[in-house]
Amino acid sequence: MKNVQIALLLWLVSFFSFTYSKHTPSDYIKEFNDSAIKLTLEKTTYSLIYFYSDSCKYCQLFNPVFENLCTLYNEDSEATGFQILKTNARVNKKLSKLFGIRHYPTLKLLHYPSKEILEYEGKRDLHSLIDYIGSKTTLTPNYENFKSEVKNIENPKELLENSKDKLVIFIMSHLIDWQDYHYPSHYIQRISNTYEDIDFYVYHGDDLNHAELLPQFGVSNFPSLVYIRNGEFKSFNTEPPAYQTNDKFNGDKIIKFIESIDSDGSLWRSIEAVSVAPVIGTEQFEDDEDSEEDIEHIEL
Ligand SMILES: *[C@@H]1O[C@H](CO)[C@@H](O)[C@H](O)[C@H]1NC(C)=O
Repeated sequence: MKNVQIALLLWLVSFFSFTYSKHTPSDYIKEFNDSAIKLTLEKTTYSLIYFYSDSCKYCQLFNPVFENLCTLYNEDSEATGFQILKTNARVNKKLSKLFGIRHYPTLKLLHYPSKEILEYEGKRDLHSLIDYIGSKTTLTPNYENFKSEVKNIENPKELLENSKDKLVIFIMSHLIDWQDYHYPSHYIQRISNTYEDIDFYVYHGDDLNHAELLPQFGVSNFPSLVYIRNGEFKSFNTEPPAYQTNDKFNGDKIIKFIESIDSDGSLWRSIEAVSVAPVIGTEQFEDDEDSEEDIEHIEL
C-alpha cells in the first residue's frame, strides 16, 4: 500500500515538474556579481546588462519586461554570442564603478572584444528593446521558449461552443499594459494557467475583423471583460465610467470577476447575432526620435 502511494507521489511530482519547468521565465534570468565579472562577461561577444537596485520603482516596473526579454534571448547564449544579465548595482560596487552607473535602472550593452559599451536610452518596453538588440547584434528573439495560453479570436463561432467557459478580454492595441500579454510574465498568462477550465481570449477593439463583437457584447470601453458560458454572457467594465477612473486592470480585478461569476447576482444575457457596417480605419502615426549614442570603454 505504501509503495503505491509513493509511486503515485513520484508520478505526480514528475508530472508537475515536466509540465511547468519549461515555462518559468525565471529559468532564463542570469544574475551576476562582483565576484565573477570577467568570467561572466567573457562568455559571449555581447552582454546586455541591467543594473538595478531593490528600492527603485522604475526597476519594479521594468522587471516583467526584463523577464520576458531573458526568455527570448537567454536560452542558447553560447551559440548566439549574446547574453542578458542583471546585477544589483548598489551591492556590486566594482561593477557599478566599472560601468559608470549613476542611476537605476540602467541598461548597458557591452561588446566584449572591443570593450565598448553603449548605454540604452530608448523606451524600456519589450518591442523597443527587441528592435535595439536586433540593430546592434542582428539577433532575433526566440519565440519558441513559451507558448501563450491566451488566444486571439480567429472565428467568433468558437465563442459559442459550449464545451468550456470562456473569458474574452477586450483591449485596444495602444494600451501599454496589454502590449505584452502573450509573453509569460504578463499576469494574464499566470491567471490562464491557474484557471485551466476556462479558455482565455484577447480581442483588439481596433481590429476591424469581427467588429460585430463590440455591439454584440455591448463593449465601448477598454480594457473590459466578457465571460461566456453556454451561449450566455456576463460582462465587466464594458461601458465607459461616468467619471474619470483609472482604466488599468490588474490581475486581482480579473480574478475577482471570475471568482464571483456565479454569486454576483447579475443575470446572464444571451448572445444575439448582429450585423454592422464596416468601420473606416484611422491613420496611425509613430514618433521618430533619433538618439545620439555615447560610446564608452571599460578596462577589464
Ligand atoms: C555571486 O555570484 C556567485 C555565483 O552566482 C554566488 O555563488 C555568490 O554567492 C554571489 N555572491 C554574492 C555576494 O552574492
